[in-house]
Amino acid sequence: MRESFTTAAVVGAGTIGLSWAALFAGHGLTVRVTDPRPDLAEAVEARLASAAPQLAACGLDVRGLADRVGLAADVTEAVRDADVVQENGPEDVGFKRELFAALAREAPAHALLLSSSSAIPATAFTGELDDASRVLIGHPFNPPHLVPLVEVVPGVRTGEEAVTRAVEFYRSVGRIPVVERKEIPGFVGNRLQNALSREALYLVEQGVISPADLDTVVMNSLGLRWSTVGPFLGAHLGGGPGGYRHMAEHIGPSMRRMWDGLGTPEQGPEQTEALIGAVEHAYGDRTYAELTEERDRRQIAVLSALHPHITKENPR
Ligand SMILES: NC(=O)c1ccc[n+]([C@@H]2O[C@H](COP(=O)([O-])OP(=O)(O)OC[C@H]3O[C@@H](n4cnc5c(N)ncnc54)[C@H](O)[C@@H]3O)[C@@H](O)[C@H]2O)c1
Repeated sequence: MRESFTTAAVVGAGTIGLSWAALFAGHGLTVRVTDPRPDLAEAVEARLASAAPQLAACGLDVRGLADRVGLAADVTEAVRDADVVQENGPEDVGFKRELFAALAREAPAHALLLSSSSAIPATAFTGELDDASRVLIGHPFNPPHLVPLVEVVPGVRTGEEAVTRAVEFYRSVGRIPVVERKEIPGFVGNRLQNALSREALYLVEQGVISPADLDTVVMNSLGLRWSTVGPFLGAHLGGGPGGYRHMAEHIGPSMRRMWDGLGTPEQGPEQTEALIGAVEHAYGDRTYAELTEERDRRQIAVLSALHPHITKENPR
């Protein structure tokens, strides 16, 4: 029998937490949000307002969305009736250690305790817990109410039942979970992103290309390709009818020879300042709201092509 998740606690309501709150409420969950930020009520209201039409475009019924999201004064109140807790506080191991100790004490015994952590594995902040069996990483990509992947990464003491339930939970809110069986800092998504970012920074530092032109290269080649086939299937097809074998044997050696020449950017204070200036020069004439609106509109268009079953025409 499928488990039903009815109440979610969102702990930490910055960029990621607010987006999770909108997604969970869009799927009919009751959501309790907590964050010490003084403008919590306004931030929640504004994010639900901007996410609602986007969730509707993905086929969700957003009537009463805001009524399903309540504010909690603290962690204890937020997690009181929770079936699942999604933590989105600062990316700091000490913070997460302390917070998860509180969550383990305060949340109902059946509640899953999930962290959005980008790079810190669960084992790094659960060592002092008597029972870490229900704590694991559920790492999303920004903004989680639109980008479907969630990296589910158990720690060494996470129970198998919690992994199964986390997968079930994320599927129940329309996400695509992938379980990663071995902890490594940055998990898979951010390691891949970082590998590309490192070379991108290097190329800009070396004066090979500007930030805006580099974005154009990625958006119109690798980004487009990878949203449909991924690196391995892409290479399998790049090898023509001979497939991955032909690619590995034909072009592989020339690609591998390039590995030694891949760059490490300096990114000292001077280079970092220059890069910030170049990015602001490229995009600083448009507001954050304008840029995110365009990003989200494009991502929804791609999503509706990739996953037509979760668009308005075919609501779940
Ligand atoms: N921004 C991203 O692209 C991204 C993507 C995936 C995962 N993450 C991860 O999600 C987590 C949150 O990142 P973010 O980008 O939303 O950060 P953020 O700075 O936007 O938000 C963090 C929030 O935590 C709140 N906070 C501080 N102390 C708290 C406490 N004691 N209880 C509850 N809330 C508290 C802050 O007030 C703030 O609103 C991090 O672990 C990060 O690595 C971020």
